[in-house]
Amino acid sequence: MLHKGFISFCCALLLILPVRYVHAQQVTWSGHIASIIHTNCTPCHRQGEAAPFALVTYDDVAKRANFIKRVTESRYMPPWKPDPHYVSFANERRLTEEEIKLIGEWAENGMPKGEGTVKEIPQQYVQGTSYHRAPDLVLKMNSSYTLKGDNVERFIVYKLPFELPDSMAVEAIEFTSNNRKVIHHANYEIDNVPEADFHNTADYVDNTTSQLDYYQQYVSYRKNMQYFGGWIPGSSYESYPENIGWMMPKRGVVLLSVHYAPVGKDEEVISGVHFFFRKKPVKRIIRATTYGSGGIGEKDIDPFFYIPANAEKSFKLSVKLTETQSLMYVWPHMHLLGKAFKAFAVTPDKDTVKLVSIPQWDFNWQEIYWFPKLVKLPKGTIVTIQGEYDNTVNNAVNPSFPPQLVYGAMRTKDEMLTMIMMTLSYEKGDEEQALKRP
Ligand code: HEC
Repeated sequence: MLHKGFISFCCALLLILPVRYVHAQQVTWSGHIASIIHTNCTPCHRQGEAAPFALVTYDDVAKRANFIKRVTESRYMPPWKPDPHYVSFANERRLTEEEIKLIGEWAENGMPKGEGTVKEIPQQYVQGTSYHRAPDLVLKMNSSYTLKGDNVERFIVYKLPFELPDSMAVEAIEFTSNNRKVIHHANYEIDNVPEADFHNTADYVDNTTSQLDYYQQYVSYRKNMQYFGGWIPGSSYESYPENIGWMMPKRGVVLLSVHYAPVGKDEEVISGVHFFFRKKPVKRIIRATTYGSGGIGEKDIDPFFYIPANAEKSFKLSVKLTETQSLMYVWPHMHLLGKAFKAFAVTPDKDTVKLVSIPQWDFNWQEIYWFPKLVKLPKGTIVTIQGEYDNTVNNAVNPSFPPQLVYGAMRTKDEMLTMIMMTLSYEKGDEEQALKRP
C-alpha cells in the first residue's frame, strides 16, 4: 500500500511539475511586463509628453510588442547615452539584461495577460509636468509667439516678471512649452529685481542679429542674477535634495531665452518656467558654472576651436579649480557635429575622478546628469573636457551639405564644446552622503 501510494504520489508529482514549472516561468503582463513598462517607459510615453504614442495599457503595449522587443534589445529605448561602465548616474534610464529578456520572451509567447488586475500607472502623473506634483508657480508668455516659417534660426528673449509674498526655497524647476519640436534649446536666468519697473520694456526682444537690443531693454534687470538653467532636447526638470537649492527672490524677472530651429511653416509657441517650492529653507546654495564654449576657458580650448569642412577633429580643455567644491550635476553640450564627449578630473594627489563619457553623442538626447553622491573636487583639481567632431558627409546629421568650415558659436550650424557644472562649496563628509531627490 505504502509503496503503491508512494509511486502514485511520484507520478502525480511528475505530472504536476512540468505544468507548474512552465506556469511559474511564464512571463505575463500582470506578473512582469506592466511594472517594467510603467517604470521605464510611461514617464515619456503618456499623454502630453515627448513620445509619439502612449505605453500605458495592455493594448498599448501588446500591439507594439515586437517593436518594443527590438528597441529594447538594441537599447534604443529607453534613451540613455552615457556609458554606464564609465560613470553610473542617479537619473540613469536603463533596463537590466533580465528585463530585456523578459520583454523578448513575452513578445515571443504571444503576450499573455496573466492573472489579476494591473494598476494602470504606478504613480499619479500631473498633466503638463514631468515632476510628480503640480507647480507652485507657473510663469508663461502672455500670448503665443508666432515663429515665422522662413527657415531663419532665431534667438528670442522673453521677459517673465514675478512678484511673490516672500522669497521662496526652490525644490525643482522645469522648462515648459506647447511646441518643443521647434526649440533647439532654452536658457532661463532668474534675476532679483526689487525695484525696477517692468512696464516700460518690451515683452520680448528679438536677439537674432545682435545682443544690443537685449542689453538695452533688460540690462537694468540683470544686476543680481540668482540662478540660471536651461532645457535641451531630451531633458526634463532639475530638482535638488533637502537643504540644497537656491532662493527665488520675492520680486524679479525670468529672462527666458529661446533658441528656435529654422522652420518651413509658421508655428505658434507658448513657453515658460515651472517652479516647485519647498517649505524648509535652503542651507547650501548651488552654483552653475559654464566651462568651454561660451564660458570659462573658451580661449584655451586646444587646438583653437574650428572644424574645417570634411575633417574629423578632437579638442580638449583643461581648467584648474581654484577652490574645493562638491559636484552635483554635469551637463555636457555639443551640437550636430559632435561624435563623442568625455570629462574627467585629476586631483592634486593624481587621483582620476571620472565625470561622464558619451561614446555616441546624440543631439536629440541631452541631459543633466545627476551623481548619486556629491563628488569632491579639491582645490587645484584639473577638470578636462574632450570632444570629438565629424564634419564630413559620413555624419548623417551634419547640418551643412556640402560640409562647411565651422567655428565655436551658438547657432545649430556652429559647434560648441561646453560643460556646465552645478556645484556647492565643499563641506566635510559630502562625498559620503547619498543624495535623495524629492
Ligand atoms: C525619456 C523619454 C522616453 C523614455 C523613458 C522612453 N521613450 Fe520611447 N520614445 C521617446 C521619444 C521622444 C520617441 C520618438 C523619437 C524617437 O523615435 O527617437 C520614442 C520612440 C519610441 C518607439 C518608436 C521608435 C521608432 O523607431 O519609431 C518605441 C517602440 C519606443 N519609444 C518604446 C519605448 C519603450 C519600450 C520604452 C521603455 C522601455 C521607452 N520607449 C522609453 C521617448 C522615450
